[in-house]
Amino acid sequence: MTDAATRDTEARAILANNDRGGYTVPTHGLYPYQWNWDSVFAAAGFAEHDMDRAWTEIETLFSGQWDNGMVPHILFHQVDPGYFPGPDIWRGTGPIPSSGISQPPIAATFVRWLLDKDAAFEPRARALLPKLMASHRWFMDWRNEDGAIVVTHPWETGRDNCPDWDAPFAAIEPEGVDAYYRRDTTHVVEEERPRRWDYDRYLHLVKLGGDCGWDEAHLRQVTPFRVADPTMTFTLLRASRDLRDLAARLGEPTAEIDGWIASMERGAETLWNDDAQTYDCLDIRSGKHTGVISNASFLCWFAGLGNDRMLAHYDRIAAAETFFVPSTDPAHPAYEPKRYWRGPVWAMMNMLIATGLGEAGHVDRAEALTENTRRLIAENGFAEYFDPRDGAPAGGRNFTWTAAVWLAWASPTTGGTPWARSS
Ligand code: DGY
Repeated sequence: MTDAATRDTEARAILANNDRGGYTVPTHGLYPYQWNWDSVFAAAGFAEHDMDRAWTEIETLFSGQWDNGMVPHILFHQVDPGYFPGPDIWRGTGPIPSSGISQPPIAATFVRWLLDKDAAFEPRARALLPKLMASHRWFMDWRNEDGAIVVTHPWETGRDNCPDWDAPFAAIEPEGVDAYYRRDTTHVVEEERPRRWDYDRYLHLVKLGGDCGWDEAHLRQVTPFRVADPTMTFTLLRASRDLRDLAARLGEPTAEIDGWIASMERGAETLWNDDAQTYDCLDIRSGKHTGVISNASFLCWFAGLGNDRMLAHYDRIAAAETFFVPSTDPAHPAYEPKRYWRGPVWAMMNMLIATGLGEAGHVDRAEALTENTRRLIAENGFAEYFDPRDGAPAGGRNFTWTAAVWLAWASPTTGGTPWARSS
């Protein structure tokens, strides 16, 4: 086990080494561009030692916002042949070459936390407010199914290959995809990455969007993949509460945001799967729940849903392996403890889950999750994700968001409890 002060120094060095000037890459090689929610976590890490740089990270992200309000999941600031699919495949239509989908909208939450940390940055929050409003409005206009937030590509949730997509993907025949050469498996062993079967369908959906210029009205009609998801619904609901707080603090109107919150509070209930007794995904095309208990299911407290329906599952799953929270329930037949979102533990998801638990009054559980994640990183370093059985590092190394959540939350010296700061 490496001591905390050494890990603090390493974490700051990772942020510095992944800094490309105004934005960070998630890790050198595997992900050489700016990713949306990775950057927001990065900002929380920078905030530990450089507030100005923290705000810049989020401002650079919003410099890629499209006219329709969408904030892309990847900004291709400088072309890098080490990543596929690049800007020529995505054909984004924004001010900076980009992908055509978004990612979990956690920015308003972290902007609020940055402002809590130092109110002197209020002018920068004020400048971001209309951009945050536009990005939430885009979700409510285009990705809203009865108040639950849908995705049109698995990459939009960040949970690229979780078992939730297995059934919706089985219904897709990935036609029209040109021959392609994956680059991710030149950086990471195949057993820790999605399968070819998944990639064929990822690329089919990218082509569908690119071919229509990412026309959301058209995609809503034609896409075979339209799935309401807890990651998106719970983070947008939570971020809308924080956006409301920000707007009120800055003396700006809040009525529109109140409407979004009320709508998503109702919509979240459509993600409740009564048979499996869990929040999970709802496939809009088939009308079926996916039946997977994932780490996203446990964002229900982060969303402020005000119920403890997931608590028994949480306790069972937290006790199942040495490290938690695994991205898929170990009791699910599709659980694979080393393969990306089909089992591994993700430290940044743990930060959000612990925050929600703490805010909901489950402080012992929040502290146990913090302590478990602290040990995971102290023993195994700053990997992209970890095997829940023994903490073995997996995926990319020297990873920005793992370093950032160490500094902002899990480190015993520099970290803290976001739930204690929120009102
Ligand atoms: C990837 O390339 O694996 C990314 O997760 C896509 O966003």
